Amino acid sequence: MAKKTIADIDPKGKVVLMRVDFNVPQDEAGAITDDRRIRMALPSIESVLNRGGRLVLMSHLGQPKGPDAKLTLKPTAARLSELLGKPVAFAADTVGDDAANKIKALKDGELVVLENVRFNAGEKAGDPQYAGTLAGWADVYCNDAFGTCHRTDASMVAVPLAMGSKPKVVGFLVAKEVQYLSDTIANPRRPFVAILGGAKVSDKINVINNLLGICDYVLIGGAMAYTFSLARGGKTGGSRVELDKVDLAKELIAKGGSKLMLPVDTHCGDAFSSACNKQVVKAGEIPDGWEGFDIGPETAKKYAELLKDAKTVVWNGPMGVFEMPPFDEGTKIVAKAIADSDATSIIGGGDSAAAIEQLGFADQVTHVSTGGGASLSMLEGQKFQAVELLDDK
Ligand code: 3PG
Ligand code: MG
Repeated sequence: MAKKTIADIDPKGKVVLMRVDFNVPQDEAGAITDDRRIRMALPSIESVLNRGGRLVLMSHLGQPKGPDAKLTLKPTAARLSELLGKPVAFAADTVGDDAANKIKALKDGELVVLENVRFNAGEKAGDPQYAGTLAGWADVYCNDAFGTCHRTDASMVAVPLAMGSKPKVVGFLVAKEVQYLSDTIANPRRPFVAILGGAKVSDKINVINNLLGICDYVLIGGAMAYTFSLARGGKTGGSRVELDKVDLAKELIAKGGSKLMLPVDTHCGDAFSSACNKQVVKAGEIPDGWEGFDIGPETAKKYAELLKDAKTVVWNGPMGVFEMPPFDEGTKIVAKAIADSDATSIIGGGDSAAAIEQLGFADQVTHVSTGGGASLSMLEGQKFQAVELLDDK
């Protein structure tokens, strides 16, 4: 990617406004249950602080329509402070007096986290006055919010535009995500195998289309396989299907030819529970009263064989209901095959990232994305305005 990064900037004595994605999951009590997005932003954060920059961090959390005490960024600032081992200031607003004062008080190597940018209506509206105030806080703008890069919210687009001729760069996380989810995929080592799961064909249609154009194989799993099965005239019993996507599935089957691989067997149950009665049937032969919850063992074996010889792998979406054993079996076998292969392996965010972490293979793959929607958009071949508008090398 030919964008300037934070490494190309000398931040000493300068105010750097960094957009991060601290939209992390929390439990009922507000405790952060997965801080990966915060940890993955640390290289850029530490790079600015260690070189004597004054850092202002901004992010959204959730989808508030206005101020919402439950969605304050305070806990993320506290978690960041623990990870950095130093104090992190917190401003109770983004464009108000508290932000102004806390930013003014920063010394070299210090940082402040601003309150949730979505508490201000200007964020979603792309309001120029709001964006102008945020841009006015800083000498340098840095986008390290990969998970939000598919959005055109003010902090992603209007703010860097309002920086005018001041430097606007990518952070290390965005650079890395773009490298793997876009550059590696455009010039893959072969065989290049994509493995796509999840519930709905409609979520993955553009990804399947794009990857069929560049991959050697696209392997399908998850509930979307049952819609494909219907398209081939199969019986899917009570499985989750999208009747209005059957024609689309037919088109993809025609387009994909032998590149598009569908399950050959299905692990079914007679109720949505670990304790249900179970059986393995051939794909397209699911009896009434039964639903598919996972790819079957033959399919898992076949997919694992193909993954073994792959040189580039992209995986997005679980193969079955992996949170409900034994229907996690297909996802486990596939994850292990990816971990064992010496391919460049790229794991999409969201459920697949959660699955690879939960199964303990996260350290054995090349890249686990921090983006859910953003990683899908990038796998669709989309370019992001929030990245495109930043300074070229
Ligand atoms: C995400 O988790 O999907 C990103 O942080 C973007 O959030 P959004 O979908 O609310 O824009
Ligand atoms: Mg989202």
